[in-house]
Amino acid sequence: MKRELISDIVEKIGQEVVVSGWVHARRDMGKITFIDLRDRSGLLQVVFLPSNKELLEQARVLRPEFVVRITGTVNERPEKLRNPKLVTGSIEMVAASIEILNEAKTPPFEVDKDTIGVNEELRMKYRYLDLRTERMQRNIKQRDAITNAFREFLRRNGFLEIETPDLVKGTPEGAREFIVPSRVHPGKFYVLPQSPQQFKQLLMVGGLERYFQIARCFRDEDQRGDRQPEFTQVDLEMSFVEREDVVSLMEQMVIEIVKKTTPEKRIQQVPFPRISYKEAMEKYGTDRPDIREDKNDSNLLAFCWVLDFPFFEKSPDGGWTFTHNPFSRAMPEHHAWLMDKSNIGEILTSQYDIVLNGYEVGGGSIRNHQPEALHRVFEVMGFSDEDITRQFGHMLEAFEYGAPPHGGIAFGLDRFVALLCDQPNIREVIAFPKTGDARDPLMGAPSEVPKSMLMEAHITTDI
Ligand code: AMO
Repeated sequence: MKRELISDIVEKIGQEVVVSGWVHARRDMGKITFIDLRDRSGLLQVVFLPSNKELLEQARVLRPEFVVRITGTVNERPEKLRNPKLVTGSIEMVAASIEILNEAKTPPFEVDKDTIGVNEELRMKYRYLDLRTERMQRNIKQRDAITNAFREFLRRNGFLEIETPDLVKGTPEGAREFIVPSRVHPGKFYVLPQSPQQFKQLLMVGGLERYFQIARCFRDEDQRGDRQPEFTQVDLEMSFVEREDVVSLMEQMVIEIVKKTTPEKRIQQVPFPRISYKEAMEKYGTDRPDIREDKNDSNLLAFCWVLDFPFFEKSPDGGWTFTHNPFSRAMPEHHAWLMDKSNIGEILTSQYDIVLNGYEVGGGSIRNHQPEALHRVFEVMGFSDEDITRQFGHMLEAFEYGAPPHGGIAFGLDRFVALLCDQPNIREVIAFPKTGDARDPLMGAPSEVPKSMLMEAHITTDI
């Protein structure tokens, strides 16, 4: 007989079925033994009756997390024994035979309880067990649903899903980069992308007009609850758009995703309020304002857009650096200032950030598609012509071949999911995250590598 999912047998009262899964709990009640069996769809109570002694003895050796296959009959539970909290609360299975598919050692923490309070190192080392818990299963499934809702909306709106490379050339985009040595080019390095920023713009030059990607990004930054060294963006770019086009389409997308995946949540205000950087700083003292009317309401989602950021800020060496994204365009009314490099501190960028309950969940901008304007940005930041050509020559050249006006945005998927799932940090919604100090205790990364590997990569180390 074919194995069936626990959630599918609710309707099969009186029938013999086969289920497989993990022993969630065992209860010996006098002459009867109960097993709670768990599979990806839920929990099922299985009864072992005293009439079948041999079977009962088999059941009594089962321990939590054993993997079993059980054949039995689906029975309706008497009214007073029903459990409304379970999908299968109105039924139980009377076992006829059982096969142990695999035994299990005693797990280092209890899998039938929430592991939020368990030592994080232990949870990460045994992440595959942590993932069996109800909350983690729910988070991972919700992440899948939200990812799909993004994908579905974008495809329906004419965006193509396109992959961009992970071995790239380093560029200043704000964070420190992870470097990858090249074996075939001694002394040269790739870096892992902080975001697909340049490639998505080149796709616009390539005439693809609407791109998106569920993109893995890498940033060697100090860790926080809402930061990981590798994380996921829902990244997109569009041609022939202005700020208003991107902002309103994204707002439509976010509203649809919330409705579809977390219908119990309420969005505080639609259209999302738009707050200038200046107002945010004056009124809330931060550019990620938490504008919730009731901070105790876990179902309240307060989105807002933060706009009109300064393009440049003073760098520690007294020069200028970009605040957000060097590829952004200045606001049209400040374009002339950028071109003649005047009023630099007052130039506003077309950057827009989307903030949810005090977290920045996304950011983007309209770009400089004219090579002279992009060149000017790097000049303001004190790059020599030579440096500009060396680091960004490929972008400037591409823009000389008929680059369309374009703009886009990237959502931090991990943050977005964590907030929609009411989780305290993004590690709770990533299957295999790094610890707070950027380690993977399960696989043991980062780790030393054999000398021979280092030699092949032309690396010498004296550590
Ligand atoms: P930005 O750097 O603002 O923009 O990143 C976009 C969004 O990604 C999320 N994010 C992170 N999430 C987890 N861990 C991190 N270390 C981390 N860093 C950022 C945030 C953020 O809003 N290329 C531009 C986008 C664009 O202009 O289109 C970019 O990467 O939620």
